[in-house]
Amino acid sequence: MHKVVISGTGLFTPPHAVSNEALVEVFNAFVRKHNAEHQAQIEAGAMQPLAESSAEFIEKASGIKQRFLMDKSGVLDPERMKPYLPERANEELSLQAEMAVAAARQALEAAGKRGADIDMVIVACSNMQRAYPAMAVEVQQALDIQGFAFDMNVACSSATFGIQTAYNAIASGQARAVLMVNPEICSAHLNFRDRDSHFIFGDACTAVVLERAEQAASAHRYEVLGCKLATVFSNNIRNNFGFLNRCDETGIGQPDKLFIQQGRKVFKEVCPMVGEHIVSHLDSLGIAAGDVRRFWLHQANLAMNQLIARRVLGREADAVEAPVILDRYANTSSAGSIIAFHLHSHDLRSGDVGVISSFGAGYSVGSVALKKL
Ligand code: COA
Repeated sequence: MHKVVISGTGLFTPPHAVSNEALVEVFNAFVRKHNAEHQAQIEAGAMQPLAESSAEFIEKASGIKQRFLMDKSGVLDPERMKPYLPERANEELSLQAEMAVAAARQALEAAGKRGADIDMVIVACSNMQRAYPAMAVEVQQALDIQGFAFDMNVACSSATFGIQTAYNAIASGQARAVLMVNPEICSAHLNFRDRDSHFIFGDACTAVVLERAEQAASAHRYEVLGCKLATVFSNNIRNNFGFLNRCDETGIGQPDKLFIQQGRKVFKEVCPMVGEHIVSHLDSLGIAAGDVRRFWLHQANLAMNQLIARRVLGREADAVEAPVILDRYANTSSAGSIIAFHLHSHDLRSGDVGVISSFGAGYSVGSVALKKL
């Protein structure tokens, strides 16, 4: 069995930053128009008026201040309220593959690797822009990588499940090095007309290069001490979009074909699950929670992360121990914990231990324990 290291990471940040205030402005314009159009039914008591959203609520309830989007013009148009992302010809690089390649080039450069050094590509994310061919094969071709490539989806946990898959391939000798990328265009599955969730997501792409420890040469290398994955079925986060939709016309365009969640229930059920998951993972590795220098947690909700850190450490974690990026990026699904790792790992010293953990729909939880070399 080979020892495995993370030797490079990359981050693609979309061009358009959108504040809570801008998102609330368009949402409230939509609400006022909707209520005016249905004034008679509302006055007759046949319909409830829609309630307005507020930037103060969003920051207080989630910790999110802004997000980056692939397109803001469509999202901020009250007549549209979804991104405008034109289809591309089959001969062009697809949009998610383009994001993946941008993040991957950074990760390869940080690892000091070329495409020829990689044997396997995984695109791991919540939404694939088409059924096939796999985006990973497109990324593989764009970067002159031999070997094989495939897509996988474990929603917000996709990156840690992807790291486990890459780890297995390298440890067993199947691959010398693996590129694992997380291109997330969450704005395309977000219902910007749903008050409960219109502020939750942002877009981003992360990339990770993993390889055999003995061949790794980058300045910042992290040995993978172990991965632990868990899933427990829940209906509290769902997206029913899929290839069967066209077989029942009554469901087309319904809200369940976009992201929907019972946010309060998710909060209550997932926090203890993740806290116990990390504690038992550290136990199994013989690592005391107090010896972990950093927690790169999934970035969905600030209070959620504070609660999880408290369960693991038995005390509050400060922003150095559990860095926050959701204030700027919002929830970027599988990319979130890797953005935290990418932006907040270089200051660790040799021997320091940290944990990447992601969690989300499924439910799914993944943790990856790392040691800085
Ligand atoms: N603006 C103003 N008020 C709003 C609002 C908005 N956009 N959305 C909801 N509210 C109101 C509600 O109507 C409710 O009012 P009431 O108390 O008068 O009934 C109140 O705010 C609380 O709503 P609730 O939905 O219980 O808020 P919350 O504190 O649970 O926060 C989330 C909502 C989504 C931020 C939070 O539940 C969360 O982040 N959950 C975890 C989500 C998660 O991690 N999902 C994983 C996705 S991958």
